[in-house]
Amino acid sequence: MQLEVNGRSRSVTPGPLESLAETLRDRLHLSGTKLSCGRGECGSCTVLLDGRPVYSCLTITNACLGARITTIEGVAPAGRLHPVQQAFVDHDAVQCGFCTPGQVLAAVALLDADPEPDHQAIQRAMSGNLC
Ligand code: FES
Repeated sequence: MQLEVNGRSRSVTPGPLESLAETLRDRLHLSGTKLSCGRGECGSCTVLLDGRPVYSCLTITNACLGARITTIEGVAPAGRLHPVQQAFVDHDAVQCGFCTPGQVLAAVALLDADPEPDHQAIQRAMSGNLC
C-alpha cells in the first residue's frame, strides 16, 4: 500500500494488524515515533493523522490509506525547528526526551486548531501525553 508520510508517498506492505507505530519505526525507520506502553496509555507514540493526534500504537496501518501522516521528523522544514520544538528548547521542557516527540505533536495539533487556547484547552489537549 501507499502511505503519505511527511509529504512523501511511501510504499509499505504491513501485516494485517500491524500498528502504525511499528510501520513507521520498523519499515520506514522513522524512529522519532517512540513506542512505550503499546496500549494507548502514555502518548509517546503520538503522530498526526490528517492533522489530528492519534496513538500510533493503537492505529492499524491498513486503516491509514489515503490519510496524511505527520511524524516528528516531518513537523518542521529540514534543518529548522518547528516553533513548538523551539519553545521546548527555550523553556527546558525536555527531561529524558522520550515523550517529547509525542508532546510536541500534541501541542502542534492543538495550536493548528486553536492558535490561542485557554488553560483548559491546553490541559485537555495535552492530557493524553504523559511524561
Ligand atoms: Fe502508544 Fe503508549 S506507546 S500510547
